[in-house]
Amino acid sequence: IEETLVLVKPDGVARNLTGEILRRIEAKGYSLVDIKLVQADRELLAKHYAEHEGKPFYEPLVEFMQSGPVVALRVAGNRVIEGFRVLAGTTDPTTAAPGSIRGDFGRDWGLAVQQNLVHGSDSVESAERELALWF
Ligand code: GTP
Ligand code: MG
Repeated sequence: IEETLVLVKPDGVARNLTGEILRRIEAKGYSLVDIKLVQADRELLAKHYAEHEGKPFYEPLVEFMQSGPVVALRVAGNRVIEGFRVLAGTTDPTTAAPGSIRGDFGRDWGLAVQQNLVHGSDSVESAERELALWF
């Protein structure tokens, strides 16, 4: 059984979508192992997003992720790392498939790529690293 880190990003929390996102995770059959509301600081986010340092969207992303609380979830399930990313939909909500979290709730506005509601770990190695950072 795998575990993954899911974050409900500040836009998801502010738009009261935490319950809806949790509902989809539970409906899929995944198990919630741990949960907390976190006001992330720069140090934590710099570690979390280390792979993106130096990219043009890095600074705005780190700022956005500090703009309000995020909900961190430790989620377990069979192939949950890949499976949650399917539930989430592709990175840009503008073109994410309907039926996915980003496709159904992501807004078609300028900041849509950044404000895409959720994060999910992208590999076993990322999941282990990120879960150790957030929990
Ligand atoms: P996460 O699950 O959040 O990691 O999404 P992802 O794996 O689909 O995307 P990636 O790891 O490549 O990028 C991390 C986050 O940076 C994304 O979720 C977006 O919030 C943001 N991001 C990625 N690419 C862009 C971009 O081109 N422009 C902007 N503004 N933000 C971006
Ligand atoms: Mg990613």
